[in-house]
Amino acid sequence: MHTLSLFLAYLGVVGATPFTLLSKRRLEDHQWTRNEKDGCPAYLEAGEFESPSYITQVSKCQPDRAFGPQSIGRITPNDVSSIFNFDIPASRADANCTLEFLFPRQKQLTNSYYKYHGGGSFLFTGYLAGSCPGPQTTYNNQPTAGTFPPFPPIHMEPGYAYTIDVGPCMFAAGTCVAGLTSSNDTTFEFLPSADDCPIGVYNAYSYGLPCPPEYCG
Ligand SMILES: *[C@@H]1O[C@H](CO)[C@@H](O)[C@H](O)[C@H]1NC(C)=O
Ligand SMILES: *[C@@H]1O[C@H](CO)[C@@H](O)[C@H](O)[C@H]1NC(C)=O
Repeated sequence: MHTLSLFLAYLGVVGATPFTLLSKRRLEDHQWTRNEKDGCPAYLEAGEFESPSYITQVSKCQPDRAFGPQSIGRITPNDVSSIFNFDIPASRADANCTLEFLFPRQKQLTNSYYKYHGGGSFLFTGYLAGSCPGPQTTYNNQPTAGTFPPFPPIHMEPGYAYTIDVGPCMFAAGTCVAGLTSSNDTTFEFLPSADDCPIGVYNAYSYGLPCPPEYCG
């Protein structure tokens, strides 16, 4: 069993004043468990999560290239990074938002495109809530940075679900929140399929729970 630990911090949900950092804590990593119902390695409750509403890439080597809307997640070492944007309905202001990176093994997927090789170091950077990516987004023209320094790189490998961030949805409710995922040593590409197990970044809502059931046990 791998023991991994992650820094948790508000990823873009909390930005410049008037937003403040509400908590930053380290979570013990959890074992990936299979959902008995559908055989998927991670569970997203119907109606209680968001897939990214907009995905795009930026390239350090082509800093003025606008990739526009993309369906694929793509990260290459020290060059291409992916931006994932979530729209948070105003009605979710009273929920907690948990940003998760679901990272199944290739053999756990049947219809999704998937490519992964490298050392597995990933860096997450949050943008200011309300500053959303769009067709104009390039490496040189990214959404407004959040006020936190980049979080320490984390090691992610296939076969696990990673909790990137947990925090009140209120800061992003009625608008959007986006973040950048990059790597210095890993190529990772994936194209989720609607009739396959989830892969990539998701935002799950929770109410009256300190953290989602799969983590609280
Ligand atoms: C990538 O970054 C991690 C964390 O900073 C570092 O330990 C590792 O040596 C880096 N890898 C490469 C290939 O630069
Ligand atoms: C949100 O998370 C905090 C901290 O874990 C918890 O105290 C609070 O009850 C949660 N709120 C909701 C609506 O789930």
